[in-house]
Amino acid sequence: MLGIVSAALISGLNAAPTKKPTPAEKPASKEAKKINITFAKEVAPIIFNNCTTCHRPGEVAPFTLMNYAETKKRAKQIALVSESRYMPPWKADPKSGSYHDERVLTTEQIKTLKAWADSGAPEGNASETPKLPKFTQGWTLGTPDLVLEPGEEYALGAEGKDVYRNFVIPTTYAEDKYVSAVEVRPGNRTVVHHVLIFLDNSGQGRKLDAKNTELGYETFGGVGFTPSGSLGGWAPGNLPRFMPDGVGQLLPKGTDVILQVHYHKSGKAEKDKSKIGLYFSKKPIDKLMRVMPVAYLPLRIPANEANYRTQSAFPVLDNVTVHSITPHMHLLGKEMTVTAEMKDGTKTSLVRVPDWDFNWQTTYALKEPLKVPQGSKIAMTARYDNTPSNPRNPSSPPKPVRWGEETTDEMCIAFVGYTVDSEHLTKGIVAEDAIDFGSRRGANAAGRGGGMMQRVLKRFDANNNGKLDPDEMKKAMEAAKEFMGTSSTGKP
Ligand code: HEC
Repeated sequence: MLGIVSAALISGLNAAPTKKPTPAEKPASKEAKKINITFAKEVAPIIFNNCTTCHRPGEVAPFTLMNYAETKKRAKQIALVSESRYMPPWKADPKSGSYHDERVLTTEQIKTLKAWADSGAPEGNASETPKLPKFTQGWTLGTPDLVLEPGEEYALGAEGKDVYRNFVIPTTYAEDKYVSAVEVRPGNRTVVHHVLIFLDNSGQGRKLDAKNTELGYETFGGVGFTPSGSLGGWAPGNLPRFMPDGVGQLLPKGTDVILQVHYHKSGKAEKDKSKIGLYFSKKPIDKLMRVMPVAYLPLRIPANEANYRTQSAFPVLDNVTVHSITPHMHLLGKEMTVTAEMKDGTKTSLVRVPDWDFNWQTTYALKEPLKVPQGSKIAMTARYDNTPSNPRNPSSPPKPVRWGEETTDEMCIAFVGYTVDSEHLTKGIVAEDAIDFGSRRGANAAGRGGGMMQRVLKRFDANNNGKLDPDEMKKAMEAAKEFMGTSSTGKP
């Protein structure tokens, strides 16, 4: 009762009901009718602004919520999924941080939806219904500067194992470019599970492609060789966004882009042509967006273990600013927490995903980027359920699981997007050996050497012979201990 009243108040219906209800008329459902929450006035704004982004043609949701009839038909179900916070899908604990593009309803909005459903979902005065927001058709970020797509549609078989198909797409611009956003448009959403974008300046992707008569070539997870970088990717629920002004990612000229699409077969033959849009920076770039990987690689998840836990950390080697966190596990993952443990001992939550859902992987972009000083660490804990009572367990009966690229393997990694505070590309100051996950696999994004090995050498190669001698190695291992991580079943 109180809920309904406050919902009515907060949702803008501050006028009292035209006729004061007498005490005899007070059962809850009738009361709701009296208060007269209508689609036109209170419900449409909630649905159009929080649901229709996905519940419209060509988007990820299985039905549309675009008008009164479509919403009324599901009023009860809408009340339920809003109340349980199953919809809109948002997996981070709202208390763990504040993010761009958060999909969270207020308690008042949830009450309004429930009161409306309880009162028979009236339309109200149809002429008061707000117009649907202007949704961009196709590209969310507007027309890209460059669209990259395979030359033709890819034909996927009806049944069988998942397919990781790599499409090699040459770029043709004449100079190096900075990218400030990348948007992926998955083609056929019934089969596209996720998309990853890799860079290749070695020509190896082209060679593998040429060996295949069909479009692209197949691998399991990786691209079949060490790529020269990455441009991120897409999974359902991930929204593209521009990097902050002055921040960008380098795309050297002549680089091939490899679009890797992970397909889940649907039971019938399907076709797909996924594509990506690149948005080049219009302003001068001062800092590169880099990626710090916080991972626990020696995963050994026993079969039938309900509560396998890991913890690990990554050292912060420069004064940095953290912009985003992308937790990543597969189907056994249950929970992941990522925290900045500052040099002075204080801890700041970066993100907590209390009920991990492989289908809703998200890059959590911090509303307030966080300064983390050199000497701090980024800590991660994760939890897995490898029992038959985990409905997502891909193996029946459960089997022991390790790190791997297959859907039935697991991963334990958080990609932390960051910039180096001392870097000023506009003044020619480059953070040459900053950690960058993409560049770790090859030349770094600025075309120079980079990554963990360089940092380890710099610190521990006392005699400067370019390698770690046994005594230097001993010291390095000692220092690394803090960052090895542990699991609930002990080390392998
Ligand atoms: C980011 C995309 C997205 C947004 C935003 C979103 N939905 Fe959904 N919705 C989905 C997808 C995908 C499904 C189907 C898969 C599933 O049930 O998880 C779905 C399913 C549903 C279902 C069916 C659930 C079931 O049990 O079968 C309802 C009802 C629903 N959404 C209502 C809403 C409402 C109400 C909102 C806004 C308050 C909303 N959705 C916002 C993507 C979205």
